[in-house]
Amino acid sequence: MTNPTRRSWTQQARSTGESRAREERGGRPGDARRLADPLAPPLDVWNASRVRWIVERELNGAKVIVVANRAPRIHERNEDGSVRVLHPASGLVTALEPVVRATRGLWVAHGSGSADRENSDEGGRLMVGGEDGYTLRRLWLTAEEEQGYYYGCANEALWPLCHLAHARPLFRAGDWGHYRAVNQRFADAVCEEAGVEDPLVLVQDYHLALVPAMIRRRLPHATIVSFWHIPWPNAERFGICPWDGELLEGLLGSSIVGFHTRLHCNNFLDAVDRRLEARIDREDQAVVIAGNKTLVRPYPISIEWPSPFEAVTPPAGECGRELRAALGIEPEVRLGVGVDRLDYTKGIEERLLAVERAFERFPELRGTFTFVQVAAPSRTAIERYRQLGEAVERVTSRINQRFATDRWKPVVLLRKHHEGPEVFRIYRAANLCYVSSLHDGMNLVAKEFISARDDLRGTLVLSRFTGAARELGEALLVNPYDLEEASGAIAAALSMSEMEQAARMTALRATVSEFNVFRWAGRMLVEASRVRRREQMTDAIDRSEEG
Ligand code: G6P
Repeated sequence: MTNPTRRSWTQQARSTGESRAREERGGRPGDARRLADPLAPPLDVWNASRVRWIVERELNGAKVIVVANRAPRIHERNEDGSVRVLHPASGLVTALEPVVRATRGLWVAHGSGSADRENSDEGGRLMVGGEDGYTLRRLWLTAEEEQGYYYGCANEALWPLCHLAHARPLFRAGDWGHYRAVNQRFADAVCEEAGVEDPLVLVQDYHLALVPAMIRRRLPHATIVSFWHIPWPNAERFGICPWDGELLEGLLGSSIVGFHTRLHCNNFLDAVDRRLEARIDREDQAVVIAGNKTLVRPYPISIEWPSPFEAVTPPAGECGRELRAALGIEPEVRLGVGVDRLDYTKGIEERLLAVERAFERFPELRGTFTFVQVAAPSRTAIERYRQLGEAVERVTSRINQRFATDRWKPVVLLRKHHEGPEVFRIYRAANLCYVSSLHDGMNLVAKEFISARDDLRGTLVLSRFTGAARELGEALLVNPYDLEEASGAIAAALSMSEMEQAARMTALRATVSEFNVFRWAGRMLVEASRVRRREQMTDAIDRSEEG
């Protein structure tokens, strides 16, 4: 066994202002090694090869395993018996897939598609993206497990618990039983796949909060980095969850726990402070329990830059003509877009109400502006999601009844899944994109819209209650509940000069291109490599003392 006193002492040694400053500069691990390596990537660019370099050189080629509920590929059977491959509408998938590709890692996920089994080998494995790709390991759940773990506990208890969006969390003991059991199955799958005693495991999101401690018990030398993709509520709110202590202990099996913002890190530390017998190291933003330390860090997630769709998408003018033709919209009508999963946290009803208010307040928009809402069906087995679908349909028809003419429709609702390249064309076609989340960890739609606009046109109207609003200050930031402010921003976006659009979009593109997903992953991996080296050193000292 390792010596806990020595471990915490050695870990404290890194708690210096210097390491924090280095981290803020973007992480410059092993500068001496870097200077000696002619293949070291340049320090001013974050891209796939830099991430690969970190894994190969800083992490000594460690085995990288991502564990997330949602799989990056879903095989679905069509009615005619043929099979289609879906790329799910999930910010988590959008962000993580380029990272797994870059590290040639392994992704463990729930195999939820109706044709997933016949498109995997007998171990549930599938190679994604040819020789240079990665392995997807699918885990099969029974309908009962899926109901209790995914729909019940994850999405009717934890999702509303963490989002301030007026949905009541439902805490059912039976769902919690399934959550624990399924988390154990994910942890077992990771340990089976690891093949080494010290893999680097990246645990994703609120579906799998117990997995880090479960892996830690079986593989004490693993480096475990957990990332929580949704907000972490304040300690009072988190305390209403009957399983708060177990969730915290589960996550604290990690070497590092990441959130999008420092506020969510602080909320997490406060929750630990209230609930557990633990030492909070405020200076180092860490939790120490039984001599084991978990670092708590903000890592704002992002998207791949440049977008993989950029090169295969026609210019904005052509995308605009195509979309108008497909939807029967006149050529001179300007377009606004919203792109979301049909989820109550996204503020889709509030968004449509703001559009309605804009037509009331600014009559010149009638006949000259159409709002296109792309809404991917999501979690449809949950009542609250069904209600939302109906409410969005109702508001859409009301606005259309109030304002539509023979030749013009104010709102077009597209209630179906659209694949990435189609969505990219829609972004390019738009004069404005409105992201109106009532509460959102980050929101990658905002960043995707920016990445699509290499013509420097189009305006982003963005809810203040997204993590993205902290980085994207050149967007028009609004309170989505305030229909006067939001409708005013829609009108302002539509009358904005080309010069102002370009100035704002240039600044936004500079931010997203620099703070891209490779930087998000790279900074986590650099921190993980430091933790790992320190642990390896302590273990070596312990072993030599024991010998
Ligand atoms: C959010 C969550 C992800 C999830 C995504 C889509 O972004 O943070 O973990 O994958 O929603 O939801 P779904 O339930 O379809 O996976």
